[in-house]
Amino acid sequence: MKRAIYPGSFDPITFGHLDIIKRASKLCDELIIGVLNNKQKNPLFSIDERVSMISELTENLDNVKVECFEGLLVDFAKKKDAQVIIRGLRAVTDFENEIQLAQSNKVQYPELETLFMTTSLKYSYLSSTVAKEFASYGGDISLFVPPQVIPLIEAKFNNKEK
Ligand code: PNS
Repeated sequence: MKRAIYPGSFDPITFGHLDIIKRASKLCDELIIGVLNNKQKNPLFSIDERVSMISELTENLDNVKVECFEGLLVDFAKKKDAQVIIRGLRAVTDFENEIQLAQSNKVQYPELETLFMTTSLKYSYLSSTVAKEFASYGGDISLFVPPQVIPLIEAKFNNKEK
């Protein structure tokens, strides 16, 4: 059984993430979307909100599960008995961080492989940060995030203004 983890902050999930999830789910028996509950960061969405959004958007993918994790990714991978980490690569600017993450994880847990998937060209500029930046100024984010996510982001920024 090939079990892979696609880890990230997903604050919030974008079309780019969904594209990787759909493609990665075809490459393994089970794909766990590992949503990082990072207490040091100050995410726009709570961990429960992020897990719930992703679960709704992936409910049609039978071999995809959504779980949150805290602490080290290698420990989460060991706990889940996962052999593969999936990461999306958009452009060369992602490479430096990603290679460091993959290699440090490899040193810590040599049995764990990191597979990089190239982001589809149409999402190569896209990130959660871009979506939040546009939303914070009332911009159109319909090309960035699924329709279900739009009112949730808008509500966050409307509440901040009050
Ligand atoms: O979506 P992101 O924020 O780019 O995802 C980064 C993530 C969650 C994959 C990475 O920060 C991570 O694995 N964090 C868990 C802590 C960890 O294992 N750190 C050691 C690697 S430097």
